[in-house]
Amino acid sequence: MAYKVLVLKGDGIGPEVVGEALQVLKVVARRDAVDLEFKEGVIGGHAIDAFGTPLPPDTLSTAKDCDAILLGAVGGPKWDNPKADVRPEQALLGLRKELGLFANLRPVKTVKELIPSSPLRPEIIAGVDMVVIRELTGGIYYGKPSERREGKDGREAVDTCAYSEPEIARVLRYGFELARDRRKKLTSVDKANVLSTSRLWREIATELSAEFPDVKCEHQLVDSMAMHLIRRPRDFDVIVTENMFGDILTDEASVLAGSMGLLPSASLGEELNGAGYRVGLYEPIHGSAPDIAGRDEANPLAAILSAAMLLEHSLGMRGEAELITQAVESVIRDGFRTRDLGAGAKMVGCKAMGRLVRERIESLDGEN
Ligand code: IPM
Ligand code: MG
Repeated sequence: MAYKVLVLKGDGIGPEVVGEALQVLKVVARRDAVDLEFKEGVIGGHAIDAFGTPLPPDTLSTAKDCDAILLGAVGGPKWDNPKADVRPEQALLGLRKELGLFANLRPVKTVKELIPSSPLRPEIIAGVDMVVIRELTGGIYYGKPSERREGKDGREAVDTCAYSEPEIARVLRYGFELARDRRKKLTSVDKANVLSTSRLWREIATELSAEFPDVKCEHQLVDSMAMHLIRRPRDFDVIVTENMFGDILTDEASVLAGSMGLLPSASLGEELNGAGYRVGLYEPIHGSAPDIAGRDEANPLAAILSAAMLLEHSLGMRGEAELITQAVESVIRDGFRTRDLGAGAKMVGCKAMGRLVRERIESLDGEN
């Protein structure tokens, strides 16, 4: 049976980085004789231009019919008008909600060779290895009412943060299970000193932790967490938090890895038939970088590592995912750098970086 993968290249550098990731997937599929069927869809700004909507019904229905989705990035200055009713970002929010992708995994790991290019001191970031799990389909991103209106004192606006027990419990449970497979520490992040949703979050985290006595569970308030993340990032293993806090903390955490151009993400739904696999949307955490689009300067590694996460979480191909990760690390170790990774002796463009990773996969494979 063929696995169906929907490829959504999106805007800006999306097509360039996804193009490289796609070729990596094809190399791995050929090597293992895995039947991958690729479909393409339009999304984001391009979809607004072509169909007047960022998430055309065709794209959404194909997405619902696939095992996994590989996405580049959406957005750009052309569609940036804050007053516009349709914005590229709505496509992401729509996909996440419609596919029930409630757990957003953002692993952050330092690569030794890139430590010198970080703005943070080497002794602070060496050995950082954490996964941030961001709740992705609830909270203030989706609560109603969310609107602008005329109030008695003029213009006013409202957003609503709402969470139900099942929404909180399923993402925390995912976090506890992941922590059990890692260093057995879970940090639940909230703002329980102010917000009702956060007090419920903390209560449920505490209750669930009784089911996972082997995992050490701690609670942090989001404001002090922002500080701990930079001062003692090595202390964290699995971090679980609500939608908006996760959005903010993961941009901060990306600095620990050296470059946003390296960070993949997976947005996962419920487990399928108890088989351990989940439908997922895989994308780099960086944006569409319109300033360098089309110049062969983008770093494809975050997209390639997202493809590795796709193999692991949606297709159950853990060994292949590991092979890709090793290939990426080995190319960096050998000194190859795209521009975002800082000056290096061997500066390469997007295409060359993709080719290096593919060659490395083939040679590592020969060694095994
Ligand atoms: C992210 C992005 C999105 C978000 C935007 C583009 C809607 O910042 O995936 O982190 O806020 O979720
Ligand atoms: Mg963000």
